[in-house]
Amino acid sequence: MDKLRVTGGTPLHGSVHISGAKNSALPAMAASLLTADEVTLENLPLVNDIFTMRRLLRELGVKVDFEADHSARLRAEKILSDEAPYDLVKTMRASVLVLGPLLARTGHARVSLPGGCAIGARPINMHIKGFEKLGTIERTEHGYLEAKAERLAGSEIIFDRITVTGTENLMMAGTLAAGCTVLQNAACEPEVVDLAEMLIKMGAKIEGAGTPTITIEGVHALKGTSHRIIPDRIEAGTFLVAGAITNGELELLDANPSHLASVIEKLRDTGVHIETGPGRITVRGGDIRPADVVTKEYPGFATDMQAQYMALMTQANGTSVIHENIFENRFMHASELLRMGADIKIDGSRAIVTGKTQLTGANVIASDLRASASLIIAGLVADGFTVIDRVYHLDRGYEKIEEKLRAAGAQIERLK
Ligand code: EPZ
Repeated sequence: MDKLRVTGGTPLHGSVHISGAKNSALPAMAASLLTADEVTLENLPLVNDIFTMRRLLRELGVKVDFEADHSARLRAEKILSDEAPYDLVKTMRASVLVLGPLLARTGHARVSLPGGCAIGARPINMHIKGFEKLGTIERTEHGYLEAKAERLAGSEIIFDRITVTGTENLMMAGTLAAGCTVLQNAACEPEVVDLAEMLIKMGAKIEGAGTPTITIEGVHALKGTSHRIIPDRIEAGTFLVAGAITNGELELLDANPSHLASVIEKLRDTGVHIETGPGRITVRGGDIRPADVVTKEYPGFATDMQAQYMALMTQANGTSVIHENIFENRFMHASELLRMGADIKIDGSRAIVTGKTQLTGANVIASDLRASASLIIAGLVADGFTVIDRVYHLDRGYEKIEEKLRAAGAQIERLK
């Protein structure tokens, strides 16, 4: 298993290119199942979750060819299988995103139920309830969900809490359902809007994406399209924190500042200097002040930025309270930061961070994608060097992060 070794103390300087958004590319790839025509996706991040989705789609019969320029051509001329097998779903729970397209295209799907993961139980009960509302008959046995429907029939679906992939799954299903589907209490994330824009280019009739009410008028068939994936707002936020904590100056290129408004606002509250322009964000460090944060669904402060923010708050002059509102177990990075000398007390869904503490390098273990990022951030400012184990978590969602950081002056290397 690869490890990363980070030596702290170097302020970051220079420019960083932000890759395409993993959480937009995954549903966009799944959407290729909705048509027999060719779909071209551009600006794909070359990260492991994308390759897992490629494997899954190929098993379903989709022709998937990646080009050298971060683009891919996908063609689901015929669906050869309707099964998303256990070994793939356990690797990547976002595999459930093939459920909606398979039901819409073929009327049946057999998907392994995703187990929990490090950050929580993460059930898909709202996805399943939504498909029932569209007329599917479902059975769960041997850890698999079997769903069948003659033809999906549009309906009103009210999510009892906001779910990003739930919204995406049901929106995709609704594009080919008979009649009108209305999603209430839908997710408003930029990745949902990006998917809707792609589906509309394929001929879907969707209104309200980006608002809590999305209306989908079913059509008989969708056609191919070409679509460019939006920049990854969480990768961008991660680099903003890295630039701030090392008291450096970084320019992010190919980013979209409007997708990060609450993160930028919060970082400015902590005294970080941030300038934005079309496609770019620059960050300059300074004395870090404590600022409390509550993670919320978009446009609130993203839960996927919570771990990175906690690392920053260890360097703030004072105490801050971080309230994790979305997942029930998303503080694993805290115990590793404690081993590096941070002062963090966990009280249920709240973490009380007291800074400023001089962190010292240590051997630490990554537990999930964003926790890995927070350990790198802490390592960049710790005294001595930090060795991060299980970086396969990181490789699922960050493209060449150590190369991007090294190009900005960080002392970081991958130990095979
Ligand atoms: C998406 O996960 C993202 N993944 C996650 O990013 C992100 O953390 C999360 O949204 C929240 O923003 C992708 O888009 C591929 P949810 P998702 O359904 O859709 C509960 C990363 O780091 N829930 O919005 O699975 C659930 O347990 C990943 O890239 C139910 O109870 O998240 C959670 O507590 C990590 N029943 C809350 O809702 C359901 O049927 C929000 O989950 C569905 C969700």
